[in-house]
Amino acid sequence: MCSIIGYSGIKNAAPILVRSLEKMEYRGYDSVGIAIKNDSMINVKKDIGKVSEVKNNLNLDKMSGTIGIGHTRWATHGKVSKKNAHPHYSNSGKIAIVHNGIIENFQQLKSELKLDGFKFESDTDTEVLVNLIQKNYDETSNIKETITKTISKLQGHYTFLVIFEDGTLAAVRFHEPLIIGVEKNSYYISSDVLGFIEKTDDAIYIDNENFVIINDHNLDIFDFKGNSIKPNITKVSKEFADVYKGDYAHFTLKEISEQPKTILQAGDDARIEEITERISSARNLYITGSGTSYNAARISKFLFSNFAKIKIEPIISSELPFSPDSIEEDSTLIAISQSGESADVLDAVRIAKKSNSKILSIINHPNSSLSQESDSVINLNCGPEIGVAATKSFTSQLVILYKITNKICNKCMNLDWDKVSQCISNVLKDDSNIKKLANEIKEITDIYVLGRGIHFPIAQEAALKLKELTYIHAEAIPAGELKHGPLALMDSNVYVIIINPDDETYQNTLNSANEIKARGAKIIGISNKNNEVYDFWIKIPDINEELYPLIEIIPIQLLSYYAALEKNTDPDYPRNLAKSVTVK
Ligand code: F6R
Repeated sequence: MCSIIGYSGIKNAAPILVRSLEKMEYRGYDSVGIAIKNDSMINVKKDIGKVSEVKNNLNLDKMSGTIGIGHTRWATHGKVSKKNAHPHYSNSGKIAIVHNGIIENFQQLKSELKLDGFKFESDTDTEVLVNLIQKNYDETSNIKETITKTISKLQGHYTFLVIFEDGTLAAVRFHEPLIIGVEKNSYYISSDVLGFIEKTDDAIYIDNENFVIINDHNLDIFDFKGNSIKPNITKVSKEFADVYKGDYAHFTLKEISEQPKTILQAGDDARIEEITERISSARNLYITGSGTSYNAARISKFLFSNFAKIKIEPIISSELPFSPDSIEEDSTLIAISQSGESADVLDAVRIAKKSNSKILSIINHPNSSLSQESDSVINLNCGPEIGVAATKSFTSQLVILYKITNKICNKCMNLDWDKVSQCISNVLKDDSNIKKLANEIKEITDIYVLGRGIHFPIAQEAALKLKELTYIHAEAIPAGELKHGPLALMDSNVYVIIINPDDETYQNTLNSANEIKARGAKIIGISNKNNEVYDFWIKIPDINEELYPLIEIIPIQLLSYYAALEKNTDPDYPRNLAKSVTVK
């Protein structure tokens, strides 16, 4: 989603803010801006476009001053336009703001402010917020009081940074991330550790419902009632400093290629043991996530039922508030999230907590909001995932779910992780067929992905990757459902990927492939076994059959990546999407 960054210190702020925004651009990115306080006033420069474009066009990093705020926007209120880009001035021009999140009652606040004579140029909730701050500051002349008075009026989830003309920088956190990097005589206030990790690994993770005031190199933290909070400086884990593409053309390719290594790092044994005990003693067990993380959650249903003989109910996080199977009292909810910041997942967790449920989380970002809300956490340990499309985090999530299952069933599965790692390496090395296929599908408009049983959630993940990276309409179909409707779509213009390793689903899925082929569609088989029905065969190595899901997704990640290149789209930053979806 949007990224916010603030700097207050002794260095020139603009180049620092621009660099931070470049590092965090993966979170959300339709427009960019910064505000810098110099000796006499606050200057704002902003426009639509990527950070590098706006930096070059407006000389963003040449602005002068040691206090500033910056923002990359992912539009929520108002279309993508210069006037809607952040920062926003208040009417007096003496206060500027950047904001991540949504002020739900902004229309009502706007009407009230209009009655007081305030004027608005943009369509955003943020411009309403900065004018509310101005109104309260005009009344109190005190920044701490201004903040407490302002937040008492706000509904929604938000984090915002405000610069006042006297050089004070204030930051407020309510259900959106906020972390401060601390260096001698400098503070970096950011949505993400990537915003400051090049400068310092000393960080203060600001708690929810806290705010910060920085003035004259002094930092004070308060809770929403105005009580003083002692800052707690911790070290950011080292692997999160590794945010370079190296020799890879894109982060997405780098992250796909890291999987032989990252699957070996997922989850530590002590945490698996602890979480397994909690799961084994759970009364009712649910699992939730969004997007790719939800697809991993769906795999757990097959693993837990087939091997651990435990029932688990997957619920899409955004649907959980409306789910008829509401979380019963004293249940256990497993929440899966790469970022640990998805608003839908956090909302689902809060609902579960109301029914006194325990929360066990599987997360990549150890200090995220979700980890703070959880009773137990297992880390993916796969390092930063910058490409918007989830790749290595998905396979790491699966590894943890396999490990938990195997622990519960007393090692009933033969999980040879070195072999899995080797098989993934082999698929990655042998990608010439996949590149050819990427070229072949670049013009098509529709593609279907078929799978049965545990391979159906993989088909869903495959369709999601193809949609995100190639913008081709991709749809997953449970193979057996073809004849109940989707067969009507099959003709010679259609490509169908069949996920078909040699296990109990093999023959039935092959029958489905033949039914499709008879209607003239092209068949792409992903399997360890070739068959004449396949127009293209993408070979995967032989492995214990329960481990195929971990291998069969790899060629589709590669296919999606190479097809994106063929179509000239940016695989790291698909249009309209953001890495960390912190609004509902
Ligand atoms: C898909 C993708 C998204 C995320 C979803 C949840 O490639 O990246 O669908 O999986 O937004 O994000 P997390 O796992 O951070 O909660």
